[in-house]
Amino acid sequence: MLTPSELSLCFISGKWQPAISKKQFSVCNPATQEAIGRVPNCDEQDTELAIAAAQTAFHTWRQQTAKQRADLLMGWRDLILANESTLAQLMTLECGKPIAESEREVRYAASFIQWFSEEAKRVRGDLIPEPSKDRRLLVQKQPVGVCAAITPWNFPLAMIARKCAPALASGCTVIIKPAEQTPLSALAIAKLAELAGIPDGVFNVITTSQPDNVGAVLASHPLVRKISFTGSTGVGKKLLGQAAQTVKSVSMELGGNAPFIIFDDADLESAIKGAIGSKFRNNGQTCVCANRFIVHESLVERFAQLLAQQANQLIVGDGLDRQTELGPLINQTAVGKLDRLLEDAISKGAKLVTGGGIHPAGPLFYKPTVITGVNTEMDIAHEEIFGPIAAVYSFATEQQAIQLANATPYGLAAYFFTTDISRIFRVSDALDFGMVGINEGVMSSEMAPFGGMKESGLGREGSHYGIDEYLEVKYLCLGGLS
Ligand code: SIN
Repeated sequence: MLTPSELSLCFISGKWQPAISKKQFSVCNPATQEAIGRVPNCDEQDTELAIAAAQTAFHTWRQQTAKQRADLLMGWRDLILANESTLAQLMTLECGKPIAESEREVRYAASFIQWFSEEAKRVRGDLIPEPSKDRRLLVQKQPVGVCAAITPWNFPLAMIARKCAPALASGCTVIIKPAEQTPLSALAIAKLAELAGIPDGVFNVITTSQPDNVGAVLASHPLVRKISFTGSTGVGKKLLGQAAQTVKSVSMELGGNAPFIIFDDADLESAIKGAIGSKFRNNGQTCVCANRFIVHESLVERFAQLLAQQANQLIVGDGLDRQTELGPLINQTAVGKLDRLLEDAISKGAKLVTGGGIHPAGPLFYKPTVITGVNTEMDIAHEEIFGPIAAVYSFATEQQAIQLANATPYGLAAYFFTTDISRIFRVSDALDFGMVGINEGVMSSEMAPFGGMKESGLGREGSHYGIDEYLEVKYLCLGGLS
């Protein structure tokens, strides 16, 4: 049921169907570059169909009680966990992630569905003290309506769950447009949603290799009342412009340029452990991966040597091999970007400590790389690396470290390591980032708000804040009371 050949149709209004045009596109395994499946290449017409289906389903889905919706979500979550191994294999096949990371992601996805099935029952209204005796002021919350979720390839399941679980929990219906690199995981959890009894039209998946065309319909259609996107800041800005035409609610999880500061009083061993986790998770392909290691000048040499030693030990290979710790990059464009950033940095004076260039495992595999002597003249200081290059800067004073960390239009995640409690509060107050890891390199959880400041986005996902993104606040003024 969940093999690539059984996932060749999209899911609209509870029906498995080809694109109206009958066109398809291939899905490739980045480890081998072989085609593993073919899926419908939906266009504007299919998108309209999915929107209409979601709108029809919205009328009845919103009428279900929170408990009914919660029970259905829990059934879906149980099926996802029961199929952990199959879903993980599929995910590794289409995005290259090491199998253990894929398994973790299946559980991470399930955790959002469980969390929001519980939150469904806690959507509360309010009773406001009345300004005059003949009135009662009430506040209730209601679902925003049809939601579009545009999801990325780096977390093919978890980002769908993080967006769709709160949407469904609050009574919204959804249309998912997964990244063209990873449509199979999306279709697989649609199969499980169907099996769990989620009603027709509540959860729709359209696959496409024309993301701009389909995204434009989703973002500008008047019946779509909410758009939630995870991806680059460039695409996010375009969608924001399109969504503005119908004044949609938006959630944007966009690019990052995470600083990772190591102060001179840090516990170096735990900083290295945090650095490896933060930099090399999913081969550096997460929005919250450390992008800039900002290290006190007294520790720079030792830090770089220790990091290089550990990076060198990471096993690079096909994610299906259980030993693998770093899989392939997603495509040739990603490899080209790393080569360009590295070349630019070296030409401007950075020093290669280890790695650099393609790994012998294959054309999309990259050597874990560490460079020092990085500065803000280099492109790597301003772009999201999205790969296994650790770029190390140095600083002398706390003020300099903070200035350097904040010197970016992005504000998603930041990390710092120190053992000084006063510094912990000073520095966390000063950092302009939505998430701050203090003596921690990996901090994501379904219970915590995920999201960024500045050009890293709008809104928060996960946690008790996450469901508000899918709810409207309605004020009722009840008058004429005696
Ligand atoms: C992302 O990179 O977009 C998500 C990372 C996470 O949830 O930790």
